[in-house]
Amino acid sequence: MNETEQNSDNSPWVANWPLFLRIMKFGDGDFLQTIIETKDGHPVGFIIFRDMLNKSTQIELKRIAVNEKGKGYGKEALLLSQRLAFEIYKTKKLYLHTKIENIRAQNIYKHVGFIAETPDPCTSFYLDETDYEMMTQSKHRGLY
Ligand SMILES: CC(C)(COP(=O)(O)OP(=O)(O)OC[C@H]1O[C@@H](n2cnc3c(N)ncnc32)[C@H](O)[C@@H]1OP(=O)(O)O)[C@@H](O)C(=O)NCCC(=O)NCCS
Repeated sequence: MNETEQNSDNSPWVANWPLFLRIMKFGDGDFLQTIIETKDGHPVGFIIFRDMLNKSTQIELKRIAVNEKGKGYGKEALLLSQRLAFEIYKTKKLYLHTKIENIRAQNIYKHVGFIAETPDPCTSFYLDETDYEMMTQSKHRGLY
C-alpha cells in the first residue's frame, strides 16, 4: 500500500500514510483497508473505506490507487466496492471526493455510475441505494 501511494503516477492524487498511521488505522473500526488482487492473488492496488462505524447510513470510498493502470482493475474494483457497500453492508450511500484536477479519476467514477454532487460537481461523487438498484436492474436488462 505504501509503495502504491508513493508511485509517481499516484502520489499527486492520494495521500501517503506513514507506517505507524497505517497500522493505527488497521485498529480503527472506522476504517477498512482492502487490497485489490487479481484472481490469482497478485496485488495490484488498494481501496480504503471510511465511515465504517456509520456504515448503515453511509460509507466513504476514501482512497483508491492501482499500480497497473488501464487494465480494467480500477473499474472492476469500483464495481465490487459498490457491491460490498450496498449488498453486503446494506448502506444507504457510498460517497467519495477527488482533487479538482484529477480528471482521470472523475471520468472513471462517472463511468462506473457515480453521480456528481452539486454544488461541487467536479470533486464530490455519490451513489445511493436507489441509484445502485436502478443501475443493477439496467445492467441485468443490458441497458447499462
Ligand atoms: C483511478 C484509478 C484507480 C483507475 O484505475 P484503472 O485500473 O487505471 O482504470 P481502468 O483500467 O479500470 O479504467 C476504467 C475505465 O476508465 C477509462 N479510462 C482509463 N483511463 C482513463 C483516463 N485517463 N481518462 C478517461 N477515462 C479513462 C478506461 O477506458 C475504462 O473504461 P472502459 O471500461 O470503457 O474501457 C487509477 O487510474 C489510479 O490509481 N489513479 C491514481 C490514483 C487516483 O487518482 N486515485 C483516485 C483518487 S480520488
